[in-house]
Amino acid sequence: MHLRALLPSLAVQLLAWPQVSQARAVEDSQYQRVGRAVNGTSPCNQTALPVCEEFTVPIHVDKTAPGEFSLENYNIKSLFAFAGRQVLVEADYDMSVRLCEPAAGIERKDTLQLLLHGATFSKIMWDFPYKPETYSWTRFMTNAGYTTLAVDFIGVGNSSKPDGLFEVHTETFVQTIHNFIQTIRAEGFMGRTYDKIAMAGFSVGSIVANSIADRYPDDADIIVLLGVTWDLLWVYPAFLSGMQTDAGVIDPERWGYLPDFYQTHPSIEAREVACFWGEFDEGALEMDFETRDMDTLGMAISFTYHLVTAKEFSGPVFLGIGQQDTTFCRKTCGSQPYAVYDRFPQANDHVVKVYENTGHALMYHHAAPNLYRDVQDFLDSHI
Ligand SMILES: *[C@@H]1O[C@H](CO)[C@@H](O)[C@H](O)[C@H]1NC(C)=O
Ligand SMILES: *[C@@H]1O[C@H](CO)[C@@H](O)[C@H](O)[C@H]1NC(C)=O
Ligand SMILES: *[C@@H]1O[C@H](CO)[C@@H](O)[C@H](O)[C@H]1NC(C)=O
Repeated sequence: MHLRALLPSLAVQLLAWPQVSQARAVEDSQYQRVGRAVNGTSPCNQTALPVCEEFTVPIHVDKTAPGEFSLENYNIKSLFAFAGRQVLVEADYDMSVRLCEPAAGIERKDTLQLLLHGATFSKIMWDFPYKPETYSWTRFMTNAGYTTLAVDFIGVGNSSKPDGLFEVHTETFVQTIHNFIQTIRAEGFMGRTYDKIAMAGFSVGSIVANSIADRYPDDADIIVLLGVTWDLLWVYPAFLSGMQTDAGVIDPERWGYLPDFYQTHPSIEAREVACFWGEFDEGALEMDFETRDMDTLGMAISFTYHLVTAKEFSGPVFLGIGQQDTTFCRKTCGSQPYAVYDRFPQANDHVVKVYENTGHALMYHHAAPNLYRDVQDFLDSHI
């Protein structure tokens, strides 16, 4: 097949590249290297630190909803477009990603973990700076031989910050991640190709993975869903109980530059209501609050439309959730997590793990090391 037919978005990226950045291309790649490689071995013990670098990836999305969308002409069609899982605006974005490779001396597995963060989180969540020897997913997984690639969704972290209603919403996340996976499948990433891609998401990141598994069942070989079910009764009340507020109002100095409709938790108490329950360190909550990021009105309106049945996905799927995930399990989980059997009816394996005394942001609770071991066991048995 002709390369251009195979990779229309990549072709656009390559054409657009010289105009969008003055930075030099790295190793014949269209990706801009942002971070510095950090590697070494922790002096106090033998925990190997991964080699991590940040890159900027240009991504194009095509508009799929008919009509023009603007605040001046705001009408019900935007809701219908969100419900139809459509893209409302054609655009080019920069997506910030962080690649972490196992330290020298660790045998590398040929599976790439693609990591999708939750709403008001960023890619930082996968390499949590609080007691990273315990809480960093990235450190744990790279020690187990996996390469991790954590993205900032469009509108988040170091990615582009376009319109918070018509551009930063769930289908934009789905299409940008799908396009990125197509590129990785065709040519690898930074000189390496992978035998398998394991897509792991938390909360809205899981919902994006669910939506991709439905529309593009061959994108990921393995799926890991964290902090999600398909029970919608408490989702919006719990989401609203986090009291998310216009980011520019919460902290004008830090966030005043953001466009309209970017929002986050205004206080540590609100953050705790949204994300924590049971057994966790106060320090983890404090670090999480400090490093929190944004979601948008567009994301908030659209995300439940992407909780779907992935009829054709035939790989294995893991679902991990806190027993007291009030957003997706009401007060306490009953049968909700096991809906993964119906929602991934063709999956060749289903593993469900529910962690006691644990709230929504399960990897920031004492359950984190158990979760990481469970996910590693699951992945190891399927690669
Ligand atoms: C990190 O590792 C790379 C490749 O293994 C090496 O070239 C580089 O010098 C190392 N950097 C540090 C700070 O140790
Ligand atoms: C070394 O690792 C242990 C557990 O694996 C951890 O408790 C300890 O804090 C680590 N020390 C440093 C300096 O990273
Ligand atoms: C964005 O980039 C800055 C500077 O390199 C870095 O300190 C910060 O952690 C990055 N943020 C995210 C979400 O990756």
